[in-house]
Amino acid sequence: MLTLLSPAKINLFLKILGKRPDGYHELESLFQTISMFDTLRIRLADNDRFTCNDPYLPTDSTNLVILALAKFRQLYKKNFHVHIHLEKTIPTQAGLGGGSSNAATTLWGINQLLDCPLTVEHMQDLGAEIGSDVPFFFSCGTAICRGRGEIVEPIAPHEPQEVWIVKPIEGLSTPLVYQALKLESLKKMANDGSEYYNDLEEAAFELQPRLRTIKQDLIQAGFSTVLLCGSGTAFFCLGEATPPEMIGVACTKAKFINRHPKRWYQ
Ligand code: C5P
Repeated sequence: MLTLLSPAKINLFLKILGKRPDGYHELESLFQTISMFDTLRIRLADNDRFTCNDPYLPTDSTNLVILALAKFRQLYKKNFHVHIHLEKTIPTQAGLGGGSSNAATTLWGINQLLDCPLTVEHMQDLGAEIGSDVPFFFSCGTAICRGRGEIVEPIAPHEPQEVWIVKPIEGLSTPLVYQALKLESLKKMANDGSEYYNDLEEAAFELQPRLRTIKQDLIQAGFSTVLLCGSGTAFFCLGEATPPEMIGVACTKAKFINRHPKRWYQ
């Protein structure tokens, strides 16, 4: 039995460069893994079984864990079966990459159980077929991602930093946020030179107006940086402050993490 941690990610910056003929958006984004984890337990078995502690999460082929298993099987070709149990902690519809991380962790775990038939590059390619954010998790946790997110340039880890993750009860679907994006106004609103920015923020705020108020309240509380994670609705906050009490908002302290090249995240 393998027990693996599946980390969340934040985007320290996220620049949208334009819309592509295939409907995706070309982007450039600095991704960082943080110490907020789901847990995956995987073991070889006589049949396939997937369970999850969250009753609201589908456990059918729409779950990225099941998709990852199917993709692995397509490439590996030999017969094997696994039991997988997923304990969710990372909120969904948050922009924290929980589903993508679960898929990457599943590929890593199955590969370990089968004595590593696939290279990291193989798994990164499989990951790109599952979702744009999946390949990133095969870096060591700090990378600039381009294309639709699947082209990963690992960079040196950042100084370990503490970060607050602030998640309102409202969620947002990634495709809806991309649909609401106004590319023309993005071009006019060139970023103000800040190290941290997210071009998806305005579109998310249009869809969920309370996010704007939450961001203002967090800045008011003294954080130096308050930025939406991916397509939202979670924010990450940097600086010496504590989030104020907000109704229907969960606040969790985490820190930047990186993995050793030979090991998964710990
Ligand atoms: O790749 P993934 O399945 O995670 O993407 C989910 C959706 O997010 C896509 O179907 C697309 O609508 C949007 N998206 C996008 N541009 C990206 C990544 C995602 O438009 N670079």
